[in-house]
Amino acid sequence: MYSLYNLFKFIFYIIFLINSILCYVPSERRYHNSVIINDRLLIIGGNKSTAEKTYELVYLDLAKPFDNTNLPWNLIREGDLPIHTSSSTAIVSLDNSTIFLIGGFMFDKSTYSNPVYAYNYLNSKWTKLSITGDRVPTRQRIRGVIDDSGIIYIFGGYNATNYTTFSGNSLNEMNTLDTSSMTWKNLSIINNLPPLSNGYSASILPNGIIIYFGGLEGSDTLITMKNIKLFDTKENEWSYMVATGEDVDSRRNFASVLTPDGYIIIFGGRTNSFASVSPKLAVLDTNKSPYEWSIPSGSKVNSPPFIYGHTANLYYNYMIITFGYNIDNGMHNSQVYFYDITNNMWITSFNPSPSPSPSPSSPSRPPKKRNRILKIAGAGDE
Ligand SMILES: *[C@@H]1O[C@H](CO)[C@@H](O)[C@H](O)[C@H]1NC(C)=O
Ligand SMILES: *[C@@H]1O[C@H](CO)[C@@H](O)[C@H](O)[C@H]1NC(C)=O
Ligand SMILES: *[C@@H]1O[C@H](CO)[C@@H](O)[C@H](O)[C@H]1NC(C)=O
Ligand SMILES: *[C@@H]1O[C@H](CO)[C@@H](O)[C@H](O)[C@H]1NC(C)=O
Ligand SMILES: *[C@@H]1O[C@H](CO)[C@@H](O)[C@H](O)[C@H]1NC(C)=O
Repeated sequence: MYSLYNLFKFIFYIIFLINSILCYVPSERRYHNSVIINDRLLIIGGNKSTAEKTYELVYLDLAKPFDNTNLPWNLIREGDLPIHTSSSTAIVSLDNSTIFLIGGFMFDKSTYSNPVYAYNYLNSKWTKLSITGDRVPTRQRIRGVIDDSGIIYIFGGYNATNYTTFSGNSLNEMNTLDTSSMTWKNLSIINNLPPLSNGYSASILPNGIIIYFGGLEGSDTLITMKNIKLFDTKENEWSYMVATGEDVDSRRNFASVLTPDGYIIIFGGRTNSFASVSPKLAVLDTNKSPYEWSIPSGSKVNSPPFIYGHTANLYYNYMIITFGYNIDNGMHNSQVYFYDITNNMWITSFNPSPSPSPSPSSPSRPPKKRNRILKIAGAGDE
């Protein structure tokens, strides 16, 4: 009896040991960033509590299959962030060598400045960049996109500088960071200026149009998801569109991905009072004019809980959801969720080389393998 107990204890210990060697368990969080480089889904920053600030740089290895109960997290030991940040934005350079970390609530030792940090993927080092050019505001709740010439566009945001009160204002400036000359520009646009905005999602189409929707306008009013702001990066011009289709609750702290065939898939989010929003998942078809919202019926089956403050990335046919806060159980989410965008269904195990089968529920989606990933990766702002 006693030896049997000891044997079990021993086996348990060994399993625990193997698990802790093979799989790192990262800190839970919300308001983080995530990007994909070379089959690695990297998680940057985020916030769990004021006391628990996380600096670790972790990634999920997407090169091999895994399932929800066995997440292959890895810690990049030498990749610790130089600052604690949440509600910032992270953008991958065109050559996949660098991650630019911009804005957010940056706890930069004792100063409240908002510098730009760059992570060099090849040598795992963070550096603080010296950037010249125009003055740009300190801000949070932003989403940057990079165009095909290496210019990052950052619109609006929220400009809290006091980290006790977190009080600030929304902005509507359009700033660009040229990643080759390392200069900031504050675009002087007079016509058609959008309302003061933050917490939106941003996707850049191959034709250089940036699509903004969702989040907050003015003094923290949730805006209707059918109100779309468009910024033409070739002309530096704003325009607006009212989308058609199904109703999608207004929301903040949701996440989105843009598929190579022009669909923006959104997931999760919350109201100003931290309540859930419906539907959890919706799709904006940007091939139609005006754009059209729809809710794939398959997305309601085996759906993850109501979460906000998570991120979403597209990898082949999968939208991958990481971390965030689970409204259903009132806890941070440590699960990873996979949505098969070809077959419109949630799945629990991940296989990097899927052979998707045609589905009658997605007539407009050809069941083909998608391009690797998109220029914009994760979205999820505070
Ligand atoms: C971090 O999280 C805690 C509680 O979850 C919150 O009170 C605090 O304001 C957050 N800090 C930032 C910078 O978001
Ligand atoms: C960067 O990565 C993306 C996605 O993996 C890929 O499509 C692209 O070709 C890469 N670019 C370069 C210059 O390696
Ligand atoms: C933040 O605001 C509080 C309340 O108004 C004030 O007491 C505090 O001094 C401010 N902190 C900073 C760093 O300005
Ligand atoms: C935030 O932006 C508003 C204008 O929207 C401005 O009046 C205010 O001074 C800014 N605050 C900080 C701390 O920059
Ligand atoms: C950026 O440009 C806009 C429009 O010209 C202007 O209103 C704003 O004050 C500028 N911002 C800064 C920080 O100079």
